[in-house]
Amino acid sequence: MSPWAYLGLQDSASPLMEQLTFFHDHALLILVMITILVGYLMFMLFFNNYINRFLLHGQLIEMIWTILPAIILLFIALPSLRLLYLLDEINEPSVTLKSIGHQWYWSYEYSDFNNIEFDSYMIPTNELNNDGFRLLDVDNRIVLPMNSQIRILVTAADVIHSWTIPALGVKVDGTPGRLNQTNFFMNRPGLFYGQCSEICGANHSFMPIVIESVPVNYFIKWISSN
Ligand code: CUA
Repeated sequence: MSPWAYLGLQDSASPLMEQLTFFHDHALLILVMITILVGYLMFMLFFNNYINRFLLHGQLIEMIWTILPAIILLFIALPSLRLLYLLDEINEPSVTLKSIGHQWYWSYEYSDFNNIEFDSYMIPTNELNNDGFRLLDVDNRIVLPMNSQIRILVTAADVIHSWTIPALGVKVDGTPGRLNQTNFFMNRPGLFYGQCSEICGANHSFMPIVIESVPVNYFIKWISSN
């Protein structure tokens, strides 16, 4: 979860989010280098007194400053493409969870286990416990096993919603009439918070998502007590 005024990426809880973080840092580094170079050139132009009446063309420099940026872009495009395909890879999921977006709450179905289903509403500020997180905690959490491949099927019942969990690197639109798929692998236990990120109406800000990542035997206990 993000603490107050923190604008960076959250600590990753899955290998894919770790890769996304690496890619973010990589792209940012290239961006900083370009900004410094261009900034330096623009700044130095103010102090340039050179005049050359016969300067009409410079074939070599034109070649260099056309091809060089294209090569730099390749260094961003290729890792980006690698990530794009990596994110879509699905590796024999052991649990499938179906999330359905509604105005304005999520409902979940564990179709593998006796069709367990429940709604998950945000806890309003006035009903919050002292240890609760405002606008983020829900009445019924999703419980899922850590160290397992998990498949998520996302859809919606009314308008478009988006099932988004930053720490897991997951963001999938729930669209009425469509069933979208994503997957993740949680490599540590804990609570992972997310929010809807598709402007879906008046209470768009108030339909958070909470995943309780637990060891597999805890998950089996939870699922069999339901
Ligand atoms: Cu649902 Cu925004």
